[in-house]
Amino acid sequence: MTASAENLPIKFPTLPLIDQGLLDRAWVEAARQGAEYESGEREALLARIKRLLQEQDAVLVAHYYTSDDLQQLAEETGGYVADSLEMARFGNEHPASTLIVAGVRFMGETAKILNPEKRVLMPDIEATCSLDLECPVDLFTDFCDAHPDYTSVVYANTSAAVKARADWVVTSGIALPIIKYLAGRNEKVLWAPDRHLGSYVQRESRVEMLIWPGSCVVHEQFKAEGIRTLKKKYPNAQILVHPESPEEVVALADVVGSTTGLIKATLNPEVQEFIVATEPGIFYKMRQASPSKTFLEAPTGGLGGSCQSCLRCPWMAMNGLRNLAQVLVSGANEITIDEDIRQKSLIPIQRMMDFARKQQIALKDRGNA
Ligand code: 13P
Ligand code: SF4
Repeated sequence: MTASAENLPIKFPTLPLIDQGLLDRAWVEAARQGAEYESGEREALLARIKRLLQEQDAVLVAHYYTSDDLQQLAEETGGYVADSLEMARFGNEHPASTLIVAGVRFMGETAKILNPEKRVLMPDIEATCSLDLECPVDLFTDFCDAHPDYTSVVYANTSAAVKARADWVVTSGIALPIIKYLAGRNEKVLWAPDRHLGSYVQRESRVEMLIWPGSCVVHEQFKAEGIRTLKKKYPNAQILVHPESPEEVVALADVVGSTTGLIKATLNPEVQEFIVATEPGIFYKMRQASPSKTFLEAPTGGLGGSCQSCLRCPWMAMNGLRNLAQVLVSGANEITIDEDIRQKSLIPIQRMMDFARKQQIALKDRGNA
């Protein structure tokens, strides 16, 4: 049985609106970071960053959605490019005393939760996520308190404070196995904050769920009609969809998966063309692994229309070589977390990691969300 705001008298909180000013500021910074380099500027920045990383005993860990420049630099300097969970795990295993997290704030926080003894810096600490913004800890706490018979499961895209109040943390790669495990224990699930990922795991597991109505500003924009039109043009293309996308888009998918899962799907030697419904930063790793294959951005408008720039996550795009160099010099943008919150938030993260180990789910190689 599905519980939703429509068919049950459950009062879901009214979510804060994503402030347009915040989005505008993100785009301004993204434009500054993405602005064309003057002659020799890029090479000078790269050389400077490489030197500073060594001097500061720092390692760069970048998310798949960051720019090609950052992903390449992370790889060239012994750092790592990964999904949010693997970023944190890499940071945990690497001996560097400073982690530079190129991504969004919850990723920096997760790295700090798992690595309290390390200094965690971000190129821009204002880089956030619409899911995190739509799940403030006070509203989440009130909702949990109102439904004490539900097990609370939160997506990794939340603040440390929200994680500290949750029973489980999941990433998109392990959400479904954990929800199925809870279903097997007859537990009812309070899920936050992404409604599309929540309804995807609900459909697949049939567990009783209360689903928080948040969404990702990027994945929410994919349109089934445009994807169908593109598929007519590329009939042999496989459709790869991240489960933060709307249900009608997920329904068209040949593969539904986390960022790591989608990259893995492109290694299929039988398939040469892919329509990809996730943030296009992911094309860097897809093209690197399969340079001769064709990768197409899933349209966001109706009828084959496509909005190229609006596919980018504005907050991921705030990370660049320019602010990375600055932060290495200044030591600014350090992630700090109240120790009580850190310890509490570690519990549901650790639960997820222990579950993964016990079930022998190799998160690195996972194929499905
Ligand atoms: P991952 O957990 O796969 O890194 O995805 C994070 C994200 O923000 C997806 O939009
Ligand atoms: Fe958040 Fe969406 Fe950006 Fe991922 S792509 S960080 S879910 S806003």
